[in-house]
Amino acid sequence: MSRNAEELAALIRDRAGAAAPVYGMVLGSGLGHLAGTVDGVAIDYADLAGFPHAGVSGHNPKLVIGDLEGVRVAVFGGRAHYYESGRGDAMRLPLEVLKALGGERLILTNAAGSMHPGIDPGDLMMLSDHINFSGLNPLIGESTDARFVPMTHAYDPGMRAALRAAAEAEGIPLPEGIYAWYSGPSFETPAEIRAIRMLGADAVGMSTVPEVILARFLGLQVAAISTITNKAAGLSDEQISHDHTKAMAPLGAEKLERILRRMLRDG
Ligand code: HPA
Repeated sequence: MSRNAEELAALIRDRAGAAAPVYGMVLGSGLGHLAGTVDGVAIDYADLAGFPHAGVSGHNPKLVIGDLEGVRVAVFGGRAHYYESGRGDAMRLPLEVLKALGGERLILTNAAGSMHPGIDPGDLMMLSDHINFSGLNPLIGESTDARFVPMTHAYDPGMRAALRAAAEAEGIPLPEGIYAWYSGPSFETPAEIRAIRMLGADAVGMSTVPEVILARFLGLQVAAISTITNKAAGLSDEQISHDHTKAMAPLGAEKLERILRRMLRDG
């Protein structure tokens, strides 16, 4: 844990109180509404020295700490992507801060394209596993043996079961599938999509995987849910664009929010 993370955690405790967050949550493109409903304190990333710029439109770079359905959460409204800086560990400090605050569980959300014939725009998909199609790793340069992080059960079975139960209680389908990380910022070609489909991926996106690796490195339990905003390149006639992603994300976001709230209520 870096000294900076401990110092930032102290600053955050001063402003928002000392209780440890039961869940950390990272909100993906167009999924920021939830942060505004937390009863707590919002701190701009700009006030947290070393936090990423997180300047992609559709993100709101604030950390909101407080209660959601009576449960203490730390919601990261902005995410830094590898493609913004060329740094795979762009989200390391925020995740270290979560850990330093006493957080143990992390829920990651993202917008993604689907390669699965049964998973369409507006649907959700919970990650059961991933393929790191970028070949990058946020732990490159880490010098301790802790860098050899096992990734066999990276997506926590207990958290997945709780999310599945919450989805079922809300009557919302929550299929599980494999997410491929593509670095971006350009979208994939149809040939790349055919290739990763053959490799076993169900959805594709430009985030989440480095955060899962970092979170497991830090000993956090992780779950992740994609909101599907489009069929991946070449699989439909629709035009893929970031504007389209932002326009479509709220469709899934409403369902995602209901699932997360239900999970918190049912504890
Ligand atoms: N590819 C990569 N990232 C995405 C997509 C996609 O099709 N849709 C939303 N984010």
